Amino acid sequence: MAPATPTRSSASEAEDAALAGRAVAALAHAYSPYSQVRVGAALLAEDGRVFTGCNVENASLGLSWCAERTAVVKAVSEGARSFRAIAVATDLARPVMPCGACRQVLFEFAPYLRILVVGAGGKRYETFLEDLFPEAFGPADLR
Ligand code: THU
Repeated sequence: MAPATPTRSSASEAEDAALAGRAVAALAHAYSPYSQVRVGAALLAEDGRVFTGCNVENASLGLSWCAERTAVVKAVSEGARSFRAIAVATDLARPVMPCGACRQVLFEFAPYLRILVVGAGGKRYETFLEDLFPEAFGPADLR
């Protein structure tokens, strides 16, 4: 069973806009010659640091790597393991929600993560990982 949901975090409009802006900027580095889908992510750590990421595809298509997981791996490898929010941006009209694999990887470190999804034109949508990924398998199951 998942633990009780703590108070959901929030941030000011300016903080959200700044995080969304970092995700949009990261999208410019996407390497996606196969899908043409560009995704950028900006992961806000509890200590205030922001780790960005983009999707990185591969000719062996199954090895393609999502923006969110790029950001998580960068953060953890720099010593950050607690996170407040992630912004995920595309230039598609319909914003991209974190895929199943990314939900699992985010859950490992931040089961109550706040997620800002940013679509073309900067329109933002807020959700929470526990809503996208309820009753998840995670670290507690291996204790
Ligand atoms: N993609 C992401 O970067 N994040 C997601 O959550 C969904 C999908 C990327 C992977 C691939 O390069 C492209 O979008 C199309 O699937």
